[in-house]
Amino acid sequence: MQVIRSVQAMQQERTHWKGKVGFVPTMGYLHAGHLSLFQQARAANDILVASIFVNPTQFGPHEDFDDYPRNLERDLSLLEALNVDIVFTPLETAMYPPGFTTYVVPVGPLAEEVEGATRPGHFRGVATIVLKLFQIVQPDQAYFGQKDAQQVAVISRMIQDFNLAIQLRVLPTVREPDGLAMSSRNSYLQAQERTAASVVYEALQAGLAAFMKHFPNGPIGEVPVGAGLAPVQAMIDVIASEPLAKLDYAEIRDPRSFLPLETLQAPAVLLLAVSIGSTRLIDNFVFNADGTWDTGVFLAESQ
Ligand code: PAJ
Repeated sequence: MQVIRSVQAMQQERTHWKGKVGFVPTMGYLHAGHLSLFQQARAANDILVASIFVNPTQFGPHEDFDDYPRNLERDLSLLEALNVDIVFTPLETAMYPPGFTTYVVPVGPLAEEVEGATRPGHFRGVATIVLKLFQIVQPDQAYFGQKDAQQVAVISRMIQDFNLAIQLRVLPTVREPDGLAMSSRNSYLQAQERTAASVVYEALQAGLAAFMKHFPNGPIGEVPVGAGLAPVQAMIDVIASEPLAKLDYAEIRDPRSFLPLETLQAPAVLLLAVSIGSTRLIDNFVFNADGTWDTGVFLAESQ
């Protein structure tokens, strides 16, 4: 495994590769959710590239950029064990040198509502860094987690809008045994908060159950306008039952456009953002056109 810090060295290295290049961008502090992306990418590519970069432009002024957990040494040993070929881990000044001027600014509901409303400028930072990384690494396939549903939709749209020759691969959310979605930010949770955090998954399950009441015969059929409120209310009620949890949003949206749904229909995504103490958690379930749900995969108790 080669660890590359400079943009020039990375671009130079890229010229030597033949075969399929897979790419997994991350901000490090790797967990089993990240590792599942690497495992799948390893099996499907000749060269596997990871990036580790805590991207300052996707954090708001009062967010956790300085506190974001970092442990490069541990990350590198995990990536080595997964047979990653190249780890690109640039310095901030390499990605954003003095005079940096040009940003990718996704606009409209997809970037400005739901997560984009709570975190103005977040998707501008994400789209900018991901396009820069795509330009430097030039992958054939790039791997992202469904955990960040709106990020996936924004990147998918950017690939389409900028005619990038990159296959987007989206993999299921990996969960702890109690349902909590794996996240680098889970390390912020105190013991009591960690126990309370499973309420996010429980709320999504309640939302799913309320949603399915409208589909007794599968995903096809008449669904009353306004029925979308029932699953949202179910999620709100479960979050309200946990004293340590504070709801940011509970929504049902189209998983591609992120437009609100006027009727319950497939595909749809149930979305939650909840603060537990000072830790903000996001999670989602996706309802597919074939009537199946993507709710993620569970880690074994022993892991
Ligand atoms: P980061 O939060 O490190 O996540 C890197 C990738 O891992 C993302 O595609 C994310 O969706 C995926 N991921 C995180 N938790 C997951 C889980 N529990 N199950 C499955 N996949 C999971 O997302 C970012 O970094 C950044 O925004 C980035 C795309 C790197 C741009 O800076």
